[in-house]
Amino acid sequence: MAKLFDTFSLKGITLRNRIAVSPMCQYMATDGIVSDWHLPHYAGLARGGAALVILEATAVSEEGRITPSDLGIWNDAQAEALRPIVQAIKAAGSTPGIQIAHAGRKASANRPWEGDDHIADGDPRGWATIAPSALAFGGDLGKVPAEMTKEDIVRVQQDFVAAAERARDAGFEWLMLHFAHGYLAQSFFSVHSNQRTDEYGGSAENRGRFLLETLAAVRKVWPEDRPLTARFGVIEFDGRDEETLQESIALVNRFKAAGLDAIDVSVGFSTPTAQIPWGPNFLAETAARVHAETDLPASMSWFISDPEQADALIGEGKTDLVMLGRPLLTDPHWPYAAAKKLGIQDAAWATLPPAYAHWLARYRSN
Ligand SMILES: Cc1cc2nc3c(=O)[nH]c(=O)nc-3n(C[C@H](O)[C@H](O)[C@H](O)COP(=O)(O)O)c2cc1C
Repeated sequence: MAKLFDTFSLKGITLRNRIAVSPMCQYMATDGIVSDWHLPHYAGLARGGAALVILEATAVSEEGRITPSDLGIWNDAQAEALRPIVQAIKAAGSTPGIQIAHAGRKASANRPWEGDDHIADGDPRGWATIAPSALAFGGDLGKVPAEMTKEDIVRVQQDFVAAAERARDAGFEWLMLHFAHGYLAQSFFSVHSNQRTDEYGGSAENRGRFLLETLAAVRKVWPEDRPLTARFGVIEFDGRDEETLQESIALVNRFKAAGLDAIDVSVGFSTPTAQIPWGPNFLAETAARVHAETDLPASMSWFISDPEQADALIGEGKTDLVMLGRPLLTDPHWPYAAAKKLGIQDAAWATLPPAYAHWLARYRSN
């Protein structure tokens, strides 16, 4: 039976435990380039003991940013500026990962703490958005995107490939494609956002085509010995759930055949009217089902904050990794506290850098 503090190996990577930092946008970049904020943020998370630190949704193109302050990887200067973060994560004994993304119809928005809505028409900070169909998300995100042409589709897929190449060359060892949360890839798959009548719309197979093609194109440039993963919203909580889940599982099985190494199970967030059952562990059974029915290595997140609960999810085989977000913002040393709570003293010391561990171990006061 696997445990939270067991190692986990995938392709050429061995993680020191099963705790990963879930990608979390910081909205603190300028022109897509890291600011003084990012290095201490990510180094702190790595020093906290998580085995894998996945950098926030990083835009594959300027139009693919959620907000003007998103991180980007559509040019070499942006990728170069990420190198010190890669080094800092590795120096702390963690594995550096990155999520690459295109925000689709949710792009051109204000930062969450500055409205979390679309930038008003006429405001020069905003830009034109694209999506599979000319349908707005709704609610505070009312901007209507342009329907993508076939040329747009090819261009965005090439942007994903170029971003993966830059991530590879910058030293990232774990790549996560953002196929979730109502952003561009998810919006191709979702019936809420895709009304196309060509081969990219209609049947589940057609709605999955953009995602599958993008994955296959990235697989060609992403090294075989480094995990290629995707975060995918497999359920919308919109009343169509069993059908969506079955379609999602079928698509994840096709991802597997196309070379996906692990699936991160998440929510679609494709409609503002979804009835999401927020609460501890709410996605666990769904994620466990995707894991079981695809037999792919898997990770999951959402309201996993209790160490015993995280240990049980892994022990029961429901997931291989837990992706933690807010618990690690609250306390980057969550892994240390978790090991102590689980009574694994050696693992607790091992989560700490020597400069901390020496004192805490010596005096046994913490
Ligand atoms: C500040 C913040 C930023 C986030 N940004 C991203 C992101 O860039 N990409 C993504 O896939 N999910 C993003 N999420 C979702 C988290 O990765 C995570 O899945 C979610 O917060 C649930 O985990 P938690 O309950 O442990 O926080 C973000 C969440 C937070 C709190």
